[in-house]
Amino acid sequence: MDLASVQSDIEKVIVNEEQLQNRLKEIARQIENDYKDQDLLLIGVLKGAVMVMADLTRHINRHVEIDWMAVSSYGSGTKSSGVVRILKDLDRDITGRNVVIIEDIVDTGLTLDWLSQNLKSRGAGSVEIMTVLRKPDAAMVKVDIRYVGFDIPKDFVIGYGLDFNEKYRNLPFIAVLAKHMYE
Ligand code: PRP
Repeated sequence: MDLASVQSDIEKVIVNEEQLQNRLKEIARQIENDYKDQDLLLIGVLKGAVMVMADLTRHINRHVEIDWMAVSSYGSGTKSSGVVRILKDLDRDITGRNVVIIEDIVDTGLTLDWLSQNLKSRGAGSVEIMTVLRKPDAAMVKVDIRYVGFDIPKDFVIGYGLDFNEKYRNLPFIAVLAKHMYE
């Protein structure tokens, strides 16, 4: 979906399509270097990570394996509880595997903090995190993130996997949602 289709719903574009893809190419090069001659399993967190997984993996010039998880915070809108429920688990055992978790956004950090510990406890050889966006001002826990696309302010952002009421995920850029949409 293009900018013209959502122009009146957004305040501004903060990362355009070209910036996004260029950054993903840089991260792809980093991943190729960091895992040279090593096993590599990318685990995407549904649903937001679908776009970045599709684009990032096509920029990576080596074999990778892909798996998916779906998680949800317990309770409605109580993300700050930090308790996470697995809605869809991995298809395969990850014992000894080099895992990179692929995310669209790290907000409070609670989901990723829980998820990376969960994957380590299953015996993964290594667990790193790649996220398109990070909101440093929203962090409630310190999570070590190896690959960050862009650090952004605490605004309500949509696009490229990020939704508002399940919509806007199919924008190829990231934008701040206009306040009149949710206030
Ligand atoms: C988003 C994102 C992370 C989580 C980050 O998912 O994909 O999984 O929130 O937030 P945190 O750092 O505060 O824990 P969301 O729950 O919106 O699900 P979705 O990807 O299906 O939209």
